[in-house]
Amino acid sequence: MRKNIVAGNWKMNNNATQTKALINDLKETLGVISPNCRVLISPTSINLSSAVDAVHGSVIEVSAQNMHQALSGAYTGEISADMLQDIGVKTVILGHSERRTYFGENDVMLTEKVSTALKNNLEIIFCFGELLEDRKSENHFKVVESQLKNVVLALDASAWKNIVLAYEPVWAIGTGETASPEQAQEMHAFIRSLVNSTYGKTIADDVSILYGGSVKPSNAQEIFSKEDVDGGLIGGASLNAIDFTGIVSAF
Ligand code: PGA
Repeated sequence: MRKNIVAGNWKMNNNATQTKALINDLKETLGVISPNCRVLISPTSINLSSAVDAVHGSVIEVSAQNMHQALSGAYTGEISADMLQDIGVKTVILGHSERRTYFGENDVMLTEKVSTALKNNLEIIFCFGELLEDRKSENHFKVVESQLKNVVLALDASAWKNIVLAYEPVWAIGTGETASPEQAQEMHAFIRSLVNSTYGKTIADDVSILYGGSVKPSNAQEIFSKEDVDGGLIGGASLNAIDFTGIVSAF
């Protein structure tokens, strides 16, 4: 049975002091509601190790925002899958639209990253989603299908126990504009049908598909109530303990 997940993507926000403070706040606010779903936070890489220590004993899990595709070597400024594992990080976000847009990550690179993460037993939150022009030209299903077919739908079935999908329409990220619950459900059902036709019903039923793009406490419940929406990847609203807890409590 698939799990509901609320994952916060802190992006390039919060220094070490702020990271500790926000985790302490979250432990308090989440402690009051006893979450009905998995809860992850993704601090920037320099603060991952201290975050792993700080969440100890709470329901919060820590994920990374990115990693390099090589196992190790001369890649100045990068972090490897093994480095994440070694400090106790078990999950990594790959393919976020900001990585694709600003850092040139494409399907080839993401295929390598996914493969390296899996070899190192990391769970992957794989992000994808169409641009505004794709939706306007009614190409959004085609774009999403190709983003999935080129990377995760080419994996062995055995990899899927470590895959979480995150549909994030680029036009809804950080813009305040959210896909309607119906638009999210329509796309999530399509995504699940692609997984079904590639791997069969068990894997399709078991994979968690998150929605991302301007999720807030005020719209989370309606979006999460849709049959094929199993949670959210939260940017802006994950930077405030009350807002993030409000989203978690939508389950
Ligand atoms: P947002 O970001 O919630 O601020 O729109 C979502 C994301 O980028 O994962």
